[in-house]
Amino acid sequence: MRNRVQSIPSNLIRGRFKAPRLSEVEAFTASLPFDRRLFRHDIRGSAAHARMLARVGLISRADAGRIIRGLKRIEREISAGTFRFNLADEDIHLAIERRLTEIAGAAGARLHTARSRNDQVALDLRLYLADEMAAIIALLRALRRSLIAVAENHVDTVMPGYTHLQRAQPVSLAHHILAYVEMFERDRERFAQALDRTRVMPLGAGALAGTTLPIDRMAVARELGFARLTQNSIDAVSDRDFAADFLYAAALCGVHLSRLSEDLILWATAEFGFVQLPDEFSTGSSMMPQKKNPDLLELFRAKTGRLVGGLTALLVTLKGLPMAYNSDLQEDKERVFDALDTLKPMLDLMAKLWPRLTFNPERMRAAAGDGALATDVAEELVRRGMPFRQAHEAVGALVSAAAGAGQRLEDLSQDDLRRHCGAAAAAVKRLLSAEASLRRRRVIGGPAPAAVRRRLAQLKKP
Ligand code: ARG
Repeated sequence: MRNRVQSIPSNLIRGRFKAPRLSEVEAFTASLPFDRRLFRHDIRGSAAHARMLARVGLISRADAGRIIRGLKRIEREISAGTFRFNLADEDIHLAIERRLTEIAGAAGARLHTARSRNDQVALDLRLYLADEMAAIIALLRALRRSLIAVAENHVDTVMPGYTHLQRAQPVSLAHHILAYVEMFERDRERFAQALDRTRVMPLGAGALAGTTLPIDRMAVARELGFARLTQNSIDAVSDRDFAADFLYAAALCGVHLSRLSEDLILWATAEFGFVQLPDEFSTGSSMMPQKKNPDLLELFRAKTGRLVGGLTALLVTLKGLPMAYNSDLQEDKERVFDALDTLKPMLDLMAKLWPRLTFNPERMRAAAGDGALATDVAEELVRRGMPFRQAHEAVGALVSAAAGAGQRLEDLSQDDLRRHCGAAAAAVKRLLSAEASLRRRRVIGGPAPAAVRRRLAQLKKP
């Protein structure tokens, strides 16, 4: 059975009001329809708060026991779908507190001692995001494993590298894949840093100015596994930097997934023919029977727009907000939830897609030939003492002569070469293969199989 939402006037916090809220106002302002997702974390935070209240003597141990048992029961009710949500409760915090007072009576009414929803919601979102970012880091690890497994099979698969989407120099498929692994490694670091800034405990800030009651903030932090406390009560209730950090990390990770998607979409065209997408990940056309469309990858590209939009929306929400808590901050959650719901399946599906791709090394090899070796020739002339600018010009003339004769550099004879490269002609002739070119690019970070194997070994260390 689904938890039902209905509207019954609730008077938990309306002591000073004579009239109930207009139902349209209630519907518009309530966060309950979306912040219920926080219920487990709200309960976790409340249980830690209750234990602390008992430890410092603000409530009795017996009341703390009643509160915690009540919270556990509420968690079961919400999980089972039997909890009766009431829109008049505004948000998940008041919904749980109302039910707790029904279950535990006066003990329940003591839970909110030395606490405001302002520090409570900050804590809940931090606890929730901390768990979710840990999950995203695990998904990024799985994606890395999946990409590395393919890269390991293609260290010697020669393909053209592109600049301006024009064939530039030979690289390997492994090297191209590992470029994305580097991006996703930085994403993992970014999420880990955002996670670190999220794991800071705000309870005790109260509404904005702390409390006169003798609470023990560190005890709550310890119980929740947070090592640090917020150090300014005004900042604690108004800060959403951690959510913005998360949304930025998510947006940039989306940008990386989008670029990878675009590469695969291009490679899967008949024009490139570098890769075949698996049937399980492709769709057909309603009209053209021959079509195999990369919809999933197109949507990865598009959904990145949502991620960027979420970041923008939160930044605009925060900009110009007066201190300290304002209801505007309630708008943080849907941006965060939407980013999570968007990014997590993208990461998961991208990891599942890679082992099922079929690459076409012959097509890649064929495309890597043409003209992509001119820089190698210029560098050979440099090795023999020619200034690079002069070598660039000489090879330019060579390329133009070859093109004029309808030939590729590789097809030129020793005699043709001697005219432009003099004594270097024989050495140059030996250079003119994409495999040789690749092998020689052994510089740290380069595409040579030896260099790529070195990086693969580093990346595979945990
Ligand atoms: N639903 C609110 C939010 O999401 C909780 C905090 C409300 N505090 C308040 N004073 N109205 O931010």
